Amino acid sequence: MAGYTNYAYRELLRMFGGVDLITTEMVSARSFVELDRRGSELPSRLWGVRDEQRPLAVQIWDNNPDTLSLLAQRLALEFKVSVIDLNFGCPAKQIANRSASGSFLLQFPDRIGDIVQKVTAAAKPVPVTAKIRLGRTRDTINAIDVAQSIENAGAAGLTVHGRTAAEMYHGNANWDEIAAIKSKLKSIPLIGNGDIRTVDEALFRIKNYPVDGIMIGRGSIERPWIFRQIAQALRNEPVDSEPTTKEIRNIIVKHFNLLKQQFNEHTALFLIRKTVCHYAINRSGAKKFRNEICSAKEPALFFQLIENFFH
Ligand SMILES: Cc1cc2nc3c(=O)[nH]c(=O)nc-3n(C[C@H](O)[C@H](O)[C@H](O)COP(=O)(O)O)c2cc1C
Repeated sequence: MAGYTNYAYRELLRMFGGVDLITTEMVSARSFVELDRRGSELPSRLWGVRDEQRPLAVQIWDNNPDTLSLLAQRLALEFKVSVIDLNFGCPAKQIANRSASGSFLLQFPDRIGDIVQKVTAAAKPVPVTAKIRLGRTRDTINAIDVAQSIENAGAAGLTVHGRTAAEMYHGNANWDEIAAIKSKLKSIPLIGNGDIRTVDEALFRIKNYPVDGIMIGRGSIERPWIFRQIAQALRNEPVDSEPTTKEIRNIIVKHFNLLKQQFNEHTALFLIRKTVCHYAINRSGAKKFRNEICSAKEPALFFQLIENFFH
């Protein structure tokens, strides 16, 4: 998740456990190739990737198979990542409109197939997966065509977010549309994604839909411990209760310190403030707290506000 799943956040998830495969923020293949050509520092979204714990998937985006292949090959041979994921789902204007990438490509299943085929060849032996939405709009849903094109081109797995690009994040993810894809695939795993926010919702989707796995986005920003709880539930073990306010304070400190390994204090504070606002959801006084925390420019004030709110 762009703006969130940086090195620090991935480490935080590993600390809680329960998640089988963590994916980086989407990395622009074009920027990578350009920076590399100039001998500049690599994109900050690849920070930590070389050395951190595996398994780790790196998600990449562009519309040019050669550019994507260049990055995929480097990620496979030099960085030795576990999985390379191709983004064909992003609906953001900057990606879909201005760069004709992400969800823009959903209207061209053959082009997607061509990209997958070339990137798969370049990344060997590292598996290449793809992430899609149901289609560009409700009237042009074509996830089955796109899914088959992806599988036939040699992808190792497919994740589907059950919304169209036009829907952005509105309404509910349509899991029936995700389920309809399963019988049209020959063998690759299908991962369902969209609106899983609780352990019960995760279990419900796993038990009632023909998916091979689930992916959680926003729910894990609000509660990075959710994967651990889901894993416990799946093993029929007692599920950890929600962290106490003291534990939440400790999580915030840990996360802030991890962020400081990569970013300067100012940026680390900006990033941790975003996450902390999610932790405040459904707590009394959340609105006031969010306003205050968003204007905290110094760590001392930030931690004072945290102390007062999560007590
Ligand atoms: C802030 C934000 C950043 C995101 N960044 C990415 C991204 O880089 N790559 C991607 O495939 N999806 C990205 N997504 C989409 C999520 O991965 C996910 O498909 C979507 O939020 C639905 O799942 P959820 O309800 O579990 O969040 C992003 C979503 C949000 C809200």
